Amino acid sequence: MIEELPTSAPAERNKDPILGILTAALRESSLLVRKVLEIASGFGQHVVHFAAALPDIAWQPSDPDAASREVIRQRVLQAGLPNVSLPVELDVLADWPDLQVDAVVVANLLHISPIDTVEGLFAGARQVCRDGGLLHLYGPFKQGGAHTSTGNAEFDQSLKQRNPHWGIRDVEAVIEQAQALDWVLSSQTDMPANNLSLLFQLKTN
Ligand SMILES: C[S@@+](CC[C@H](N)C(=O)[O-])C[C@H]1O[C@@H](n2cnc3c(N)ncnc32)[C@H](O)[C@@H]1O
Repeated sequence: MIEELPTSAPAERNKDPILGILTAALRESSLLVRKVLEIASGFGQHVVHFAAALPDIAWQPSDPDAASREVIRQRVLQAGLPNVSLPVELDVLADWPDLQVDAVVVANLLHISPIDTVEGLFAGARQVCRDGGLLHLYGPFKQGGAHTSTGNAEFDQSLKQRNPHWGIRDVEAVIEQAQALDWVLSSQTDMPANNLSLLFQLKTN
């Protein structure tokens, strides 16, 4: 009998829109993307969905949380796909594992972690990504210093009640931090439910 694994409802809703924009980005890029690292894989729904749809790419899930990694591990084994690895431990605020990838993807991390995570993400991704590599970031952001919906404003309040160091970040500040760490913004796209897709490319030396 296949065990019922924990599932995030938002991840089920947004996995197709993210896959759509990611597929388009990869198609339009001149870069041959063979290996992608996912940061903050959560329950692993995204990585398994992406791996099934993009079988020519090797997918590496990761998460700092051991219980989440166990769920990802079981989901990856259930999926039985040859192109998705078992999860590795990766906390963007700690030392990163020794990996070399062509692209990094991350969804719904920056609002649910302290502000240092922004710098940790771009610095670590620069370390593991090849020159010219891609970084795709998805989630809710403020724009021009304001929330883009009342739903996001309420969500921000609830995040801050859970942890005063969490909160929806300003997209301009995130892009500035990215640029300071050699990630150039290629595109910014509105996504369903007041989320944004941000695609960055690592400067070539
Ligand atoms: C809201 S979940 C998002 C999961 C999945 N990416 C999604 O969109 O459904 C946030 C995830 O971020 C992970 N996380 C929190 N702090 C982190 C850090 N410092 N480095 C990497 N991942 C982190 C958590 O363990 C959790 O799995």
